[in-house]
Amino acid sequence: TPATTPPPVTGKVTLRVNGQPQTLELDTRTTLLDVLREHLHLTGTKKGCDQGQCGACTVMVNGRRINSCLSLAVMHEGDEITTIEGLGTPDKLHPMQAAFVKHDGYQCGYCTPGQICSAVAALDEIKRGIPSHVTGDLNAKPLLSIDELRERMSGNICRCGAYSNIMEAINEVAG
Ligand code: FES
Repeated sequence: TPATTPPPVTGKVTLRVNGQPQTLELDTRTTLLDVLREHLHLTGTKKGCDQGQCGACTVMVNGRRINSCLSLAVMHEGDEITTIEGLGTPDKLHPMQAAFVKHDGYQCGYCTPGQICSAVAALDEIKRGIPSHVTGDLNAKPLLSIDELRERMSGNICRCGAYSNIMEAINEVAG
């Protein structure tokens, strides 16, 4: 007998996206990334690999960064989602956006929204003493060095290889 695809299961979820409540009725398999891009038309967040490997889809959920391609939207009831559109505006750039412009922290720009969301969250993690997600060493003292920043940004891939400018921008904001 031929395999049959089960019908989609729908669910309701209310998110707060860049400060605005958004209630959606969704196929429960819809990722947070697809909700942002396809349902809410916030296309600043990019889809690169759609498999959790490139970081282009990085957004902040309650201040912590995640790969939105790996997370189902219905799991985020009541969560505060911040995308690149919520960080700054063309007239009033977030300091991290301004630093990326100043240091040419991009070439094609595709990874830039994810890089910036990730960088903002990474500096906040350092400020709050949250250990590196890569080492997972709970006893590691946060060490604000270029190596520490590089490690914390290692989940964000730049296909143009603009890493040195990206790091200069983040380093400037980190002080
Ligand atoms: Fe999510 Fe690549 S699109 S990590």
